[in-house]
Amino acid sequence: MRTLIVANWKSYKTTSEAKNWLYQLKMQEVESSSSKEVMLAPSFTLLPYVHSFIEANDMKISVGAQNVSPFAQGAYTGEVAAGQLSEFASFVVIGHSERRSYFSENETMLFNKVKQALQVNLQVIFCVQGKEAQVPDGVKIVAYEPVEAIGTGHPDSPEDAQNVAEEVKNRYKSVETVLYGGSVTADTVRNFTELSDISGVLVGKASLDAKAFIEIINNS
Ligand code: PGA
Repeated sequence: MRTLIVANWKSYKTTSEAKNWLYQLKMQEVESSSSKEVMLAPSFTLLPYVHSFIEANDMKISVGAQNVSPFAQGAYTGEVAAGQLSEFASFVVIGHSERRSYFSENETMLFNKVKQALQVNLQVIFCVQGKEAQVPDGVKIVAYEPVEAIGTGHPDSPEDAQNVAEEVKNRYKSVETVLYGGSVTADTVRNFTELSDISGVLVGKASLDAKAFIEIINNS
């Protein structure tokens, strides 16, 4: 099974900062391989640029979005529809705890987002905060991200991550891959990627610096 290393840039980086980061990965020849898949989720504004850079430089990095509209294209001011995303993205992160808490995204809305994404064949990384979470039909990749571990410098224990991953896979037969996210660094990544039911990591803060992210990929 491939290890997925996903960078979640959140609301960080301008185009020139994104260029600098990508250039460093290119110089280090960091790419997906048969055992690792490198994935990057920048802000909407950066998607066209990041997509073109990766294509022009023939890099093997998958590009995705951090959010998607729960509606198809239409009169929904401020939203980006799955069909629009699919020009630039191959995956989308849905249900991040920051979306749930700061933007009041509820289960119904999240289920609609997943439906929209799957309709245009965007791969979904569905975030859950614990083992009791609901996972919509058709989701193959789940990221377990406990709220108290996000951005705090205190990752969850590998035991908890393993337990949640096992339980989610048991409860939802469509789920093939479970990632761990929450304060992952180059020093801790291996504690999670070596677990039998964890197949990768979703990295926020430590993905912003190219060198730190390259170290995470190398150590995973
Ligand atoms: P963090 O964020 O690595 O900064 O804790 C992870 C995430 O929110 O996806």
